[in-house]
Amino acid sequence: MILWITDPHLDYFHSDREITRWGVSLQETYHPEYVVISGDISQSIGLKKHLSLLQKALKASIWFVPGNHDYWGSDIATVDAICSSLGKKIQCLDSLDYVQLEGMTLVGQFAWYDGRAGKGRTSGVQLWDFRRVKDLAAEYQSPWMWQHMEDSRTPLLSRLQTLAWAATQKLEAKICKALQVSQDIVVVTHVPPYLEAAWYRGQLSGEEYAPWFSCPTMGEMLSRVAVNNPEARFAVLCGHTHHHGIYSPHPNLHVYTGLGREPLPVVSGPITHDLFDRKAPWER
Ligand SMILES: [Fe+2]
Ligand SMILES: [Fe+2]
Repeated sequence: MILWITDPHLDYFHSDREITRWGVSLQETYHPEYVVISGDISQSIGLKKHLSLLQKALKASIWFVPGNHDYWGSDIATVDAICSSLGKKIQCLDSLDYVQLEGMTLVGQFAWYDGRAGKGRTSGVQLWDFRRVKDLAAEYQSPWMWQHMEDSRTPLLSRLQTLAWAATQKLEAKICKALQVSQDIVVVTHVPPYLEAAWYRGQLSGEEYAPWFSCPTMGEMLSRVAVNNPEARFAVLCGHTHHHGIYSPHPNLHVYTGLGREPLPVVSGPITHDLFDRKAPWER
């Protein structure tokens, strides 16, 4: 059985023992052989230790993509290097073309939000990411500048769009390879690739938050791939907004946004072929 979890934010637990206890409770309840986590697992400094604690408690192999919070306190290259060197039982999908588990073909890639949706560059929202991820902080002037001088937003937005585009190209290449071995593809990512998948309490995120809660650059690619491969079926698993919902931009492409920690981490459900038939995993 493959269990899907998103946004567990393990660094919010007060102690390592609490993480272990939570992992053991999942093991006893679900007995998963594999666990897939779609990002926001911890912060850079705790990522390796927290994933290791969880893996030992679960006694299952973990496959994951990082989320924006996992880069906090460090830079992108350092965290990517950590992610790709965690051993055989904790593998980052970003580092792999695809993986076949229990008849499912999983392809994963983290992509930053691209700042394009909703109010785009005119959004006044400033995320902690802008200060806590070194690569973003290097392009971010100050809260005052962001608020009062719209031009000051350009370097950061350009950087985000470059990162989103690079990740999208990487993901497309991986999906093309996966399509050569399977017609049923599960894509694991963190940021919703469509604004319509950026759920917040049963509704969509507001215009102000939309630029930071979605990555249309990736969504446009996924739509093109789904339309060009009508015989294939795609299910996308993401998180980031911490509220769940389903969006189906095409008959053969369903996007599932999982429920994040609030206040405790939760399970979004099993990963099965039902995902291709628009059946919510959290209702099983
Ligand atoms: Fe999160
Ligand atoms: Fe996130």
